Amino acid sequence: MKELQDRIRIDGQVIGTQTLKVDSFLNHQIDPAFIMRMGETLADKFTQDGVTKILTVESSGIAVAMAAGLKLGVPVVFAKKKPAVTQDSETYLADVFSFTRKEAVQISVAAKFLVKDDVILIIDDFLAHGEALNGMVSIVRQSGAKLAGAGIVIEKRFQEGGKKLRAAGIRIETLAAIEYMEPGTIRFAQN
Ligand code: G4P
Ligand code: NA
Ligand code: NA
Repeated sequence: MKELQDRIRIDGQVIGTQTLKVDSFLNHQIDPAFIMRMGETLADKFTQDGVTKILTVESSGIAVAMAAGLKLGVPVVFAKKKPAVTQDSETYLADVFSFTRKEAVQISVAAKFLVKDDVILIIDDFLAHGEALNGMVSIVRQSGAKLAGAGIVIEKRFQEGGKKLRAAGIRIETLAAIEYMEPGTIRFAQN
């Protein structure tokens, strides 16, 4: 998505060679009109897949997921990172290790919100090591639902998450894939 590449070049801050800060439109402040266009563009890649529900994880995935859900006309479920005070008895759980925070979190989704007749589209803001995506795929598998694939805003292709999950047969669509970055330079992949 050309508009996203331009926005990353203008507003993104590259920290070292591994981290891209996009706080001004995606991860802290949100640009609503732009988020809507990004969610719709991801949704458009899955219009032929019979998607019945979107799954994301709190917090930064939610806005884009909502935009995609609105376009496809389906509900949006977000996995929670903290155990709910009123945890439903039947809950799907997955462990997600955060390389950024150097800690594992358990994500959870109440079983009643993902059923085996569902066709799930996973949406998230970043794909890095693939831990969050892997956890969501595990939750979809536990539910018995069909997985249509994953729509990701920014993939850091120089980290191994995308490669691993594509090798596992998961369809992953991204709006911008970065193959290399350092302060002052960002190189996007063609696809
Ligand atoms: P992974 O899920 O792909 O394995 O990524 P990793 O553990 O490395 O990242 C953990 C968190 O950091 C995730 O958000 C992920 O979206 C985000 N992240 C990873 N790389 C980058 C990056 O280069 N820039 C930015 N801005 N974020 C990155 P989270 O902890 O789940 O937080 P939230 O923002 O969704 O609340
Ligand atoms: Na994030
Ligand atoms: Na995220």
